[in-house]
Amino acid sequence: MTEIKGHIDPIRRPGELGIHSVDHFHFVVPNLKDAQNFYSEFGLEVSERKNRLALGTRGSPHVWGFVGEGPRKKHQHVSFGAFEDDIESFAARLQDMRIPRLDPPTDIDSNGLWFRDHDGNLVEIAVKPKTSPNEKSVFTQISAGPGERGAPLRSAMRRTYPRRLAHVLMFTTDVTKAVEFYTRVLGLRLSDHSGDGIAFLHGIHGSDHHMIAFARSNAPGLHHFSWDVGSVDEIGAGAMHMLGKGYDRGWGLGRHVLGSNLFHYVRDPWGSYSEYSADIDYVPADCDWTCGDHHPEDSFYAWGPNVPADFVHNYEA
Ligand SMILES: [Fe+2]
Repeated sequence: MTEIKGHIDPIRRPGELGIHSVDHFHFVVPNLKDAQNFYSEFGLEVSERKNRLALGTRGSPHVWGFVGEGPRKKHQHVSFGAFEDDIESFAARLQDMRIPRLDPPTDIDSNGLWFRDHDGNLVEIAVKPKTSPNEKSVFTQISAGPGERGAPLRSAMRRTYPRRLAHVLMFTTDVTKAVEFYTRVLGLRLSDHSGDGIAFLHGIHGSDHHMIAFARSNAPGLHHFSWDVGSVDEIGAGAMHMLGKGYDRGWGLGRHVLGSNLFHYVRDPWGSYSEYSADIDYVPADCDWTCGDHHPEDSFYAWGPNVPADFVHNYEA
C-alpha cells in the first residue's frame, strides 16, 4: 500500500548561496559567576570550557553561545553555519567584494572564514551542521474539555528548559547598511522592517522569521538572545522562576507583530536580555516571504505591558 505522507519542508534552497544558521554567539562580561547563575536559572545548560562558559540546551550537544570574561559586557563575534559545498563560494564572494579575510582570534581554534561587518563586528562563516529548524517549531496549547481542569497545579509546575537558540538581536549604527551587508555577503533575506529603525532577517534554507535582527543605536552591541520554548505556560513558568531568583526586571508577556512570537524578556545582569519565545513565524526553504516596511506602531508588539524605559538602551555604547 502506498503511504501518503504530509508535506515535508525542503532543507535547502537550490542554486543560491546563503548561510543556513546562526551557529553561535560570543560575548564577554565582567563576572562569569553572574553569567553562570543567570543562564542556569534561565534554563540553559551551562558548562565550563577553558576560560569561558558554553551555553547549551537540554537534550542537544550544540553550543549556542560562549561567554568569556572582559572588563565590561561586550559583543565579540557571531559565527554562522554554512553547508560544506558552499564554503569555497563564500571565500570567493569575500574576495570579489574586497572584504579582507582575517585570522581567527588567537584563543579560538577555527578554520572558518573571518571578516568584519559594516560596523566592524567580527563575523565567522564556518562549515557546521544546520541548527536552524527545518520546519515550524511545535507550539502546544492544551485547552481542557468540558468537565476537565485545564491549568497545572502551581505546586506541580515544571521549570522551563528552552529547546534551542531562536535568534540574536544586535544594535547597529546603520540598519540599512546592516541589511545590505548581511543579505549580500551572508545571503540572508529581509523578512520585515520598520524604515531604518529595525530589520529582521531569515535564512534562505528554511529558518524562523528571523535568525538575526538589527535595531538602530549609536554603537554596535548585543540587545538580546532569544530562546525557543513550546508553550505559553513555559514562557510563564520561566518568567516566574526568574522572578523568584531575583531577576525581576524584564518585559512580557506579550506578542510581537513582526515574527508573531509570544515573548517574555528577562533582563540580564548587564542590561541586555534573554527572551523566552514561542510560536514564531517560519519561512520554509521554498517560500518567498513577502517583506513589508511597517509603521513603527505596527512593528514592535501587538499587545503586552508598557515597554520598560531603558528596554532599547545600548549598554555597550
Ligand atoms: Fe526577539
